[in-house]
Amino acid sequence: MTTPAELAVLHTDLDVASLDHLQRLLGCWGVLSDLSFCDLLLLAPAQGANPPQLVVIGQVRPTTSATLMPADLVGELMTADDAPMAIEALQNGDIVSGVVPVPVAEHPGHRNRPVPHATDTAELPTVPSEASLECVPVRFEGRAVAVMLRIGAVESRRRTGRLERVYRDVYHRLASMVASGDYPFVGEDVTGEDTPRVGDGLVLVDDKGTIVFASPNAMSALHRMGVSAAVEGSTLQQLGIEETAVARALGSGHPIIEEVERRPDVIVLVHCTPLLVDGQVTGGMVLLRDVTDLRRLDRLLLSKDAAIREVHHRVKNNLQTISSLLSLQARRLEPGKGQEALREAERRVRSIAVVHEVLSREPGEEVPFHEIVEALVRMAKDSVVSDHHIDIHVTGDIGDVAAGVATPLAVALAELLQNAVEHAFGATAPREDAGAQGRVDVVLANDDGHMTLQVRDDGCGLPEGFDIARTTSLGLSIVRDLVTSQLGGSIAMESRHGTMVSIDLPVEQGRRRRPGLSA
Ligand SMILES: Nc1ncnc2c1ncn2[C@@H]1O[C@H](COP(=O)(O)OP(=O)(O)O)[C@@H](O)[C@H]1O
Ligand SMILES: [Mg+2]
Repeated sequence: MTTPAELAVLHTDLDVASLDHLQRLLGCWGVLSDLSFCDLLLLAPAQGANPPQLVVIGQVRPTTSATLMPADLVGELMTADDAPMAIEALQNGDIVSGVVPVPVAEHPGHRNRPVPHATDTAELPTVPSEASLECVPVRFEGRAVAVMLRIGAVESRRRTGRLERVYRDVYHRLASMVASGDYPFVGEDVTGEDTPRVGDGLVLVDDKGTIVFASPNAMSALHRMGVSAAVEGSTLQQLGIEETAVARALGSGHPIIEEVERRPDVIVLVHCTPLLVDGQVTGGMVLLRDVTDLRRLDRLLLSKDAAIREVHHRVKNNLQTISSLLSLQARRLEPGKGQEALREAERRVRSIAVVHEVLSREPGEEVPFHEIVEALVRMAKDSVVSDHHIDIHVTGDIGDVAAGVATPLAVALAELLQNAVEHAFGATAPREDAGAQGRVDVVLANDDGHMTLQVRDDGCGLPEGFDIARTTSLGLSIVRDLVTSQLGGSIAMESRHGTMVSIDLPVEQGRRRRPGLSA
């Protein structure tokens, strides 16, 4: 699916800064839709169209009212015939409004749909015959770069209560700011998942911070914060709420979001957006959201994370105990095959312990594999017994790896490093220059769809006729089976100025990042 941002990049000539501004608007315009009880569309001029056309790059429906536009219009093209007022708003830079009939008949043979689109009226028996349409130019750096369309029921025909009047008033003040380039705020990045919405509770304050209006949900939030007095006519501070967001937002002319903790266990997010006219603060829209339960859940999740880390910590401790026991037992044996086997087993257990050690420090199910590589390299260096000086270099990275992949991969890498330090420069190697340098390279890469891991050494190379696919020796059989059966990858080994082992793994789909707007 194409995101609005990608659509905009594909179909308009707008520069990156303007697209960023539109992206910010798309991030916070749910508030505008809710305040106006209307559907909103965002239209940007289509690339190279003459006469001008507009492409719909965003659509949002109100959560405070029924939609008049059940159809998804994102991606549709509109001509001057479809949306004359929108073109006028874009060209003149003024807000243009009027009443349009609903439904507008489709032009026969015309692919583009007029606005508002209401061919599905059968599903919406209450759709009025007329809708009010407002086209707000979206100004950025002095230029109207797009148009925001507001489509809703005709206002004057409905009896409106105070809440509705206040909401619409705040909407109009914000819409004027969109048209003058003051909204969305440049650099504003407070549109996270927790950001309050209109339905959470809205308080309107004047330029001094005095409360002019508080919605029922805002009143509930205030009650939970211990406010029982009438709120209109007082500032939040006078009501005993020690927040600074409103004062700071009104003082600076920039939106402020703040978390206020009141009485044990009540946490409320306060998001104050200053309302500007000609750059002057004339009041503020304060959205309140009781996030007490959300934060409690956060804490529970945190403790679940801590529990998982604790389990990894204990598994690591147990594995270390096992490896110590194996080591103790090995020391009691005469040098020979039995002792060697125990030492190998000890080493394998330790390489698995490394993974749990890293997992015990990281929250989540993935581990930064480079940390595991570093630990395994240290282990391999410690096990060098020949008088060769062996350097091990690591280049590249494969990033974060799922715990289930990290363990087999760590065991395989440990075997390969061990083989390099043990066989490539060993006493049986044809190089007689004891005390000389040996070099081992670990090269990691992760480009799209593939993870590769190479271990190369500049030692004596593999024995004549060696074949990884047919070897029965334990170490490399383990590596081969882990890579091919457990990880679904492939492995190759060859002698080229030493030995080179390459492991290639497919990366499971869906883990790549979504392309961003400026990508
Ligand atoms: N990096 C290397 N350089 C030279 N020979 C190697 C290398 N890696 C493996 N070999 C050869 O492959 C054989 C099998 O390795 P492996 O299965 O790990 O068993 P082990 O290490 O117990 O001998 C080794 O005995 C050695 O002869
Ligand atoms: Mg080996």
